[in-house]
Amino acid sequence: MNSGTFYAIGVGPGDPELMTLKAVRLLRESPCIYVPTSRLSTQTWVTDVVQLYATEGVDICPVSFSLEADREARQEHWRQTAAAIVDQLQQGKDVAFVSLGDPLLYSTCIYLIRSLQEQWSQVPIEIVPGISAYAHCAALTNFAVGEGEQSVNILPTVTAIDDLQSAINKGGTLVLMKIGRHLQAIIDLLEENELIEQAVFVARAGLPDQCIETDLRRLRSADPAVGNLAIILVHTENI
Ligand SMILES: C[S@@+](CC[C@H](N)C(=O)[O-])C[C@H]1O[C@@H](n2cnc3c(N)ncnc32)[C@H](O)[C@@H]1O
Repeated sequence: MNSGTFYAIGVGPGDPELMTLKAVRLLRESPCIYVPTSRLSTQTWVTDVVQLYATEGVDICPVSFSLEADREARQEHWRQTAAAIVDQLQQGKDVAFVSLGDPLLYSTCIYLIRSLQEQWSQVPIEIVPGISAYAHCAALTNFAVGEGEQSVNILPTVTAIDDLQSAINKGGTLVLMKIGRHLQAIIDLLEENELIEQAVFVARAGLPDQCIETDLRRLRSADPAVGNLAIILVHTENI
């Protein structure tokens, strides 16, 4: 019997029209779709996208993000999910896993792929790239991400403000992800570095409650939750 293929499908950042034709076709054809879920409501639209394109009656398997602090516990979580998928593939069934944005950019899908390959080195995998959230945020604000010789530095999370200062010192464009509760500290630092006017903020790009702010000072009085599912783009040099 031929084995099935594992499809890691990037579904873009939120707007269901920002998906590739291939992603839509594979969602329509997949007999089994794994959907990452989170206790953060910010992820629920991924389920909506799947329901929009999946054929009625397919197996939809929610897979929760492991939020365990312990690395080994997180890996065990992915091992168990991978084992269930390997089982289905070896029975000849194709399996799709949807991923927010692009599957290979700071995505849980990377852990899952690694775990699948550990369990079955020849596992058939096809990765379908998706539009990354930062590309949509840039498009919404007409923010040129990279121009001429500029480097682009993506910071997956801003936990230490010192790290952000070093990134500013290195120059180029900064893409700051997972803003969350660090929003006010980031705004402070951008002001100190006189970069506030060279930064844009986009939250929940492509979703009904999308928020775009080109004057970050106005976010000082915003609901702290605005930083969830948000990106800040900064030009650290005068342009
Ligand atoms: C775990 S990363 C996933 C990145 C994703 N793989 C990609 O290619 O964009 C999650 C972060 O992406 C950003 N993000 C994802 N979707 C977004 C959206 N619709 N609007 C703004 N930022 C978003 C946020 O910074 C969020 O904390």
